Amino acid sequence: MTGGPALTVGSVGLDDGDFTRTFRGEGVGVSGLDDLLDRMERDEFDIVAVGRALLQDPHWAARVLDGRFDELGSYDASALTFLR
Ligand SMILES: Cc1cc2nc3c(=O)[nH]c(=O)nc-3n(C[C@H](O)[C@H](O)[C@H](O)COP(=O)(O)O)c2cc1C
Repeated sequence: MTGGPALTVGSVGLDDGDFTRTFRGEGVGVSGLDDLLDRMERDEFDIVAVGRALLQDPHWAARVLDGRFDELGSYDASALTFLR
């Protein structure tokens, strides 16, 4: 592989595979991060981009860093209608 760092994006922490559901006003359930963490340990990518989970919960990254996975929740489309 050539170039810069590898980035992954899409449904991090969420149980769908299609973010366009968001534009239909649909919410998405929470999903575990075990697979993502395994793949990071295998050096599949260097950077993880997080979209809707952060829109829903601005403390998402801090919770993950602290290992407080039980505090992570689902995404509700109403998160697009205001800033936290
Ligand atoms: C409200 C909203 C607006 C977005 N606008 C763009 C955009 O203008 N261009 C783009 O490439 N991706 C856009 N995206 C896609 C995100 O960059 C990201 O790829 C997508 O949300 C998947 O990540 P997530 O599952 O963590 O939310 C948008 C996503 C959302 C929820």
